[in-house]
Amino acid sequence: MISPALERFISQAAARSRARDEPADCVLALAPLMLDLIDRAGTFLEPRHYRSDPLGYSRNLVYDAPDESLSLYSIVWLPGQWTPVHDHGSWGVVGVVEGVLEERSYVRLSPDRGADADIDLARGGTVLLRHGAVTSFVPNPDHIHVTGVPSERPRAVSLHLYGRMMSDFNIYDVGARTRRRISVAHNES
Ligand SMILES: [Fe+2]
Repeated sequence: MISPALERFISQAAARSRARDEPADCVLALAPLMLDLIDRAGTFLEPRHYRSDPLGYSRNLVYDAPDESLSLYSIVWLPGQWTPVHDHGSWGVVGVVEGVLEERSYVRLSPDRGADADIDLARGGTVLLRHGAVTSFVPNPDHIHVTGVPSERPRAVSLHLYGRMMSDFNIYDVGARTRRRISVAHNES
């Protein structure tokens, strides 16, 4: 059973993303939808969407399109849980439902965006996103970042909409200057 607010969000997000080829136009059109969705999160987020794991941040699938063109996850970050350094190979729109989500950016300095070695990353800025905040990214060039919650802050919960199933992404070893593709697990809805 899908709530009216979530159903409306999905249908509008599908229509708007389908109508736009450029990822920057996609996130421009989708960010306001995410802003509204956060306000209605209480109408569709259920206990299963708040599942957490003491071993690492927990990705709970909320919706996946039959054609895999869209996916929405509720991610639960316990204190001290972080992603690896990664990119997405897709546009994404993120909204914070609870707590403060922290994002630390990296900028790729080396010119060959397709290479898996000899990657020079520079550390970029930090963004702190409170309840109600929306952020987005596009893959041209790859948006490389670390996201999570420092150990001194309480749990955070965020909604993540992507332009594909986010079942794998590139992770980076900053010191070794390499990246590799890994599968990322989620809890089914
Ligand atoms: Fe990410």
